Amino acid sequence: MEKIFFTFKIPDEGMLLLKGYEVTGNTQDRFLSKKEIIEGAKNCSALITLLSDKIDSEVIVSLPRLKVIANYAVGFNNIDIETARQRGVRVTNTPGVLTDATADLAFGLILATSRRIVESDRFVREHRFNGWKPDLFTGPSLADKNLGIVGLGRIGKAVAIRAKAFGMKVVYHNRKPMLPEEEEALGVRHMSLEDLLRISDFLSLHVPLTAETRHMLNEKRISMMKREAIIINTARGALIDEEYLIKALRDGRIAAAGLDVYEEEPFISQELLDLPNVVLLPHVGSATHEARRAMSIMVGRNVAAVLEGKEPPNVVV
Ligand code: GLV
Ligand code: GLV
Repeated sequence: MEKIFFTFKIPDEGMLLLKGYEVTGNTQDRFLSKKEIIEGAKNCSALITLLSDKIDSEVIVSLPRLKVIANYAVGFNNIDIETARQRGVRVTNTPGVLTDATADLAFGLILATSRRIVESDRFVREHRFNGWKPDLFTGPSLADKNLGIVGLGRIGKAVAIRAKAFGMKVVYHNRKPMLPEEEEALGVRHMSLEDLLRISDFLSLHVPLTAETRHMLNEKRISMMKREAIIINTARGALIDEEYLIKALRDGRIAAAGLDVYEEEPFISQELLDLPNVVLLPHVGSATHEARRAMSIMVGRNVAAVLEGKEPPNVVV
């Protein structure tokens, strides 16, 4: 019987699809070390992973029976795709089912940062609310503001739809612009990244992390932005040079940031924690009950397909 190893417990729905196999894994509430993953997955044909597991070439090469790595995430920058490809190991992800969840959270961060919701909540809890005042926690309105979306894929488009409902003007930058009729249907306009940075009042990132996109928001690019601009990141932390972002937030080079992801997750620097103009979330973009169940089912289907010798539904390689 073929064996499957999971590095962390995921919802049951997908695991129920794997009943015909010998399934073992980590049932503790802690992440496994590389050594533990290699040891645990020895002789396994399938490995179910989280985005917090680094599946590098050493792991892949150490598991000669491996046929599939099923990541419980849409992003797969935690996996050495090239080594997997060379060794004929399939890699799968969970696209689509977490689009709305992630777009909701990105929009939640737009609202939370602009209307200073978290700061206001802290203020109330500290018993400092002593009456209505004209300037208490004021912030920018959303209507007629420019939202710049970098990466208008599934999630970026879902954010655009939400933004239009709030009366925002949506501009975007993609490596390859959409067709004019698609732009018209969605009510969005393509721009060079530089032009987009210059006009955005809100900037939301929705590109995958690759060697090319790492630090795409660096000092030079952040310096092009308006001082009133607010940066939202629900994609991957390393898209932004976090050290410079902190400096820009501290010096008032930009107004605020809403972050769900960090450069060296789960490490978050004390400087970032000390800033009042940031909302910090623990990578919960896809954390709806529905998305997580659907992600689990996709993982189950992907693993089952490969083990049955079929093409998995969600192929990375
Ligand atoms: C979450 O960050 C994911 O990639 O699914
Ligand atoms: C992310 O890759 C998406 O689903 O748009």
